[in-house]
Amino acid sequence: MKTKPELTFKHNLERGRHGWLRLTPAYSVKIVHEILDEHPETNYVLDPFSGTGTTGLVCGERGLQCDLLDINPFLVWLAHVKTANYGSDQLQEVQNSIPAIVAEVRGEYADLWWPPINDIERWWASDVRNLLARLYRSINNTCPQESAAKDLLLIAFCRCLINWSNAAFNHQSVSFKPQQATLFSDVQDEILLGEFAATAAIVLGAARQSVKGRVSVFQADARQIPENSLAEYDCVITSPPYPNRMSYIRELRPYMYWLKYLSDGREAGELDWQAIGGTWGIATSRIAKWRPGGTEIPFAGFENIVEAIASKSQLLGNYVHKYFADVLSHITSLFPRIISGGKVFYIIGNSKFYQTLVPVEEIYAEILRSAGFVNPAIKCIRKRNSKKELYEFIVSAQKP
Ligand SMILES: C[S@@+](CC[C@H](N)C(=O)[O-])C[C@H]1O[C@@H](n2cnc3c(N)ncnc32)[C@H](O)[C@@H]1O
Repeated sequence: MKTKPELTFKHNLERGRHGWLRLTPAYSVKIVHEILDEHPETNYVLDPFSGTGTTGLVCGERGLQCDLLDINPFLVWLAHVKTANYGSDQLQEVQNSIPAIVAEVRGEYADLWWPPINDIERWWASDVRNLLARLYRSINNTCPQESAAKDLLLIAFCRCLINWSNAAFNHQSVSFKPQQATLFSDVQDEILLGEFAATAAIVLGAARQSVKGRVSVFQADARQIPENSLAEYDCVITSPPYPNRMSYIRELRPYMYWLKYLSDGREAGELDWQAIGGTWGIATSRIAKWRPGGTEIPFAGFENIVEAIASKSQLLGNYVHKYFADVLSHITSLFPRIISGGKVFYIIGNSKFYQTLVPVEEIYAEILRSAGFVNPAIKCIRKRNSKKELYEFIVSAQKP
């Protein structure tokens, strides 16, 4: 089994709107296309862990109806902007705004704002941070109200802020390149502003392509799918967080602080406590105190797995137990939303703590069966880069 980069986010980077922001938790459009190709009867899709909106955008491009849910408000915004249709007036407004924004950035301002990110100088050298602050100010002055045009300009801003940062996102950590000596600051500003204008033009180009299907995005907690507000679906295609202690907040922080979805570390921890598998800040101390309270995970040997991990670290034992308690709650609340004959597809990775391999795919299959789904099947799709026993799977099942 190979690592198959075409089945990861890397495949999306050159694919129009799919490549707008490079976020590692995103899965490949190829996975979604392949499932839909194999199930041409699909009509209405739900992705309850929609992240950057890959499922929704593929469905929209194929003319299918799709609802997306995510707990993270920044990702809800991003998925909405990626899957919306833009009229010619809105596209013209973006086009006209680009030179106006760039011209305004060149002024001197005393009232610059940048976000309260800890150690912000590690992320951006002070002259780049100042340029970002001027750019952010200028976008907001040019488009004072929330609008589709402003959304598209902010996508370009997000892309630049990460391209201009010193951060590199590895699997489990963020590393920072050493600060480099700056060119003459005004020369650098002109180069970077040129890059912003070019990025905005790329975003605009992809926004011109229309999305045929109707895609709706909601902020919701998939551990308790809202009962009345959503439709009934004949297909679920989704990739929940993996039990690997990776918090999405880690990679999303720079965007979320600049776009004011976060204003301090406490808020980040609170949000991650709502997320399945989240461990950021306060979420970790709450996991340490968490108790299962009678919830049994329907998988033979589950207690032994948790005990083996807990014998090395009680915190990690709790982490794995709570992860599956949340998955059980999610799948139980999902079942009534699926029509008879509807199919669900979970793209999921297994994990290993100390010497204990967690057969995540088998546990999902059993949880699906216990919730009432039938014919659970597991297909291994790729090897992951990290430890040698780690793979990615599609776990599927059907509602009778
Ligand atoms: C692996 S990512 C999904 C990536 C997505 N397939 C894509 O292509 O971008 C998992 C997502 O689940 C979301 N999530 C975690 N806990 C959640 C919860 N309780 N309810 C809804 N979404 C949640 C995270 O915010 C994250 O965006």
